[in-house]
Amino acid sequence: MNRKIAVVGGGNVGATCAMYLAEANLADVVLLDIVQGMPQGKGLDLTQAGPVRGYNAKVTGSNKWTDLKNADIVIMTAGLPRKPGMSREDLLKMNADIVGSVAKQIKKYAPKSFVIVVSNPLDLMTFHMQRKTGFPKSRVLGQAGVLDSTRLRAFVSMELNIAMTDIQAMVLGGHGDTMVPLARYTTVGGIPIKELIPADRIKAISQRTAGGGGEIVKLLKTGSAFYAPGAASVSMCRSILCDEKRILPASAYLTGQYGIKDIYIGVPVVLGAKGVERILELKLTKGEKAALQKSAKTYKKHLKELGY
Ligand code: NAI
Ligand code: 2OP
Repeated sequence: MNRKIAVVGGGNVGATCAMYLAEANLADVVLLDIVQGMPQGKGLDLTQAGPVRGYNAKVTGSNKWTDLKNADIVIMTAGLPRKPGMSREDLLKMNADIVGSVAKQIKKYAPKSFVIVVSNPLDLMTFHMQRKTGFPKSRVLGQAGVLDSTRLRAFVSMELNIAMTDIQAMVLGGHGDTMVPLARYTTVGGIPIKELIPADRIKAISQRTAGGGGEIVKLLKTGSAFYAPGAASVSMCRSILCDEKRILPASAYLTGQYGIKDIYIGVPVVLGAKGVERILELKLTKGEKAALQKSAKTYKKHLKELGY
């Protein structure tokens, strides 16, 4: 294959990305981690699954940054995951150091790549990655909204017993407790959910979505979600590599849209061969806009802690 995706961090999310990328036959994959042998082991294991699963993508593992060379996309999953009782912001300082050091390597070895950041706290790490690589903002974006909205889609499906794939949803804002699930823009086969689900249940589903990551952390006890985050990241890669121009919620750099500027936060974007090609500005109610701005305010505070 002549397309290459580098996945930095060969842990739960990274390895799951590699698996879904291979299954989609989207690109050859290199899994990079600082732990000796582990990414190579996972790469070999995933390669050996190819004949049974019907893919020919090459999956390799590595501890060498030079293997970032020629990557079209880098998915950044290196970092520590949350443990029970930890917020994503608790991870801020620890993961900022990791993102900073990986950004240097990406800049050196894959200067033309797109970077999809997954490491938490997501919106802040995406900002940090863009600053440290110096790449155009259209080439650095964060994965969170696809995950948060797929969670909302799954919960709506459970509520109505209707095919998950027929449900469209939009979740804006930061990837954290301040995210803004937009019930008005959530539809089932084109029908707004307000016509199908009573208001109190919509509220409960929205709250469950906002706490969706925490719900899984509590159950897993030793880490956080990885199947849906991996799947979400791969759908973003596909939209870029295949120039699909899908409208997906992603952490993107705002320059005044929604009354917010100079931070990365979750908004609907058009994702194509040029990366973030457009940011869509939805008409929000006063309450929705206030919730989004509240989300943004929290991040401005944390960016100061990172020295920005
Ligand atoms: P994990 O602990 O399973 O894997 C992280 C991997 O990163 C480890 O294998 C570790 O050795 C590696 N690593 C650490 N420093 C590194 C460096 N400098 N270079 C290369 N590799 C390095 O964690 P998991 O579950 O894969 O989560 C990864 C990150 O993704 C966490 O920060 C987590 O909070 C975040 N996450 C974000 C989501 C989102 O929607 N944005 C969803 C799920 C997780
Ligand atoms: C999640 O939402 C922990 O950010 C991760 O599952």
